[in-house]
Amino acid sequence: MKRIFLLGYPVSHSISPAMQNAALHDLGIDWQYELLATPPNQLRDTVARLRDADCIGANITIPHKQAVMQFLDATSERARQIGAVNTLVKRDGKLIGDNTDVYGVLQTLVDEHVSVRGARVVVLGAGGAARGTVFALGEAGVASIAILNRTPAHAHTLADFTREQFPNVAVTVNNIKALNDAELIINTTSVGMTPHTNASPMPEGISFPRRAIAFDLVYRPLQTRFLKDAERAGAKTISGLGMLVHQGALSLKLWTGRDAPAQMMWNAASNALRTTECETRDA
Ligand code: ATR
Repeated sequence: MKRIFLLGYPVSHSISPAMQNAALHDLGIDWQYELLATPPNQLRDTVARLRDADCIGANITIPHKQAVMQFLDATSERARQIGAVNTLVKRDGKLIGDNTDVYGVLQTLVDEHVSVRGARVVVLGAGGAARGTVFALGEAGVASIAILNRTPAHAHTLADFTREQFPNVAVTVNNIKALNDAELIINTTSVGMTPHTNASPMPEGISFPRRAIAFDLVYRPLQTRFLKDAERAGAKTISGLGMLVHQGALSLKLWTGRDAPAQMMWNAASNALRTTECETRDA
C-alpha cells in the first residue's frame, strides 16, 4: 500500500485524512493518507521514514513548515522564496519541498469575492503559515501589511522577508493602531484550534473592527472565537475550510499529476468537520 503522510504536532484533530482519502477514492487511486504525529524532537527521524518505498509524499503542518526544510533534498522555487514548506513530493527517490498555502489563500479570497489589491491588511502571527499568507498578499498587490505577533523577534524576521520580496508593500510590526483602518484581518496563529478553547488571537482588550473582513486559517472549530467576535461586530467572516480544501487540492495534484475533485473534497471535509465537532461536543 502506497502512503501519503501528514506530519504535525498536534495532528489528531486533522480532517485532512477524511478529505484526501475521499478524493483518492474518487480518482480510483489505491493510496492511503495517514496522520503521523511528530513532536519537534522527532522531526528528523520522521522525515527519514518518508524515504521508505511505500511513501509517495506528505503534508507538513504546524509547527514544522520551516524546520522541515533542512532535512529535504530540494525545494521548489516557490517554497524557497516563501521559506516554508507544506507539501513534500518524491521524485526519483528525492524529497522535494513545495508550498500550496499561497494558492490556498488566494483561491479562498477569489471564492469569497474579496479583492485585496491596494488593501490594508493585518496578519496575526509570524510562523510558517504567516509566511505563505504574506507572500500571497504581496503577490495580490496589497498596499500594506501590519504583522502582529506574540514574539516580536519573529514578527521582525517576517517583516524583513516581506520588505525584501515586496518593496512596494508598507510593512509594520506590532502596530496595534493598524487594526483601526484594516480592511482584512487574517489569523495565521494556532490560537483557537484547541477544542473548547475560548481564546482569541486578537490583541488583549481590542475588539474586532466592524469594517474589516475576518479570515481565519484555523478550520476547527468552524466558528472560532475570532470569527464569532467578528460576526458579532457585524463583519464578514471567512472560515479556514476553503483554505484547507484548496491547499489540499493542489497538494493532491502534485502527488497524483491529476486534477483534484475540489468540490467533493469540500463536501468530505465539511462532513468530517460536522461529525468530529459532534463527537467533541458529546465527549
Ligand atoms: P505554522 O508553521 O503552522 O505557522 P508556527 O511556525 O509554529 O506554525 O507558527 C505559529 C504561530 O502562532 C506563531 O506566530 C506563534 O507565535 P510566536 O511567534 O510568538 O511563537 C503563534 N502562536 C502560537 N500559539 C500562540 C498563543 N498561545 N498566543 C499567541 N500566539 C501564538
